[in-house]
Amino acid sequence: MTGLRKTFRIKAKDFIHAGEASINVQNLLKSLDLNPQIIRRIAICGYEGEMNVVMHGGDGQLSIEIDADSLAMEIADNGPGIEDIEKAMQAGFSTASDEHREMGFGAGMGLPNMKKNSNDITVESSSGKGTRVRMVFQLS
Ligand SMILES: Nc1ncnc2c1ncn2[C@@H]1O[C@H](COP(=O)(O)OP(=O)(O)O)[C@@H](O)[C@H]1O
Ligand SMILES: [Mg+2]
Repeated sequence: MTGLRKTFRIKAKDFIHAGEASINVQNLLKSLDLNPQIIRRIAICGYEGEMNVVMHGGDGQLSIEIDADSLAMEIADNGPGIEDIEKAMQAGFSTASDEHREMGFGAGMGLPNMKKNSNDITVESSSGKGTRVRMVFQLS
């Protein structure tokens, strides 16, 4: 399955379809018979990243690329960007609105969980230029 690449679109503010990209990834990985524990970690990271695009970002996409022993996932959006990445990576930091909090979001644990559940994470962002999160998962 070397070099398999898939891209799923994510729409900002669309809570009706929010989570679909990560469900699609999860189903694809199940069909490829990947280790269930690794699928679970990838699904957590995909979901957190996707919800961040829906809540905080702009329109974007989630892409995965599977190689022989690693899977790379990139979640990018053209939203407002992250002002202070170091702060955003801290457990409990959140700029979620009251409306998001009423829906149960805004614990500020998304990025910390993405860091914990991936083998490597890179966040690129600047105000007005959108956000790109790239994670790598070792498959073996
Ligand atoms: N794609 C994004 N675009 C803009 N800001 C983001 C994005 N992802 C994360 N952030 C910022 O980083 C903060 C922390 O994200 P996260 O750890 O997932 O917590 P939460 O989503 O609960 O706020 C968010 O509150 C937001 O300010
Ligand atoms: Mg989040």
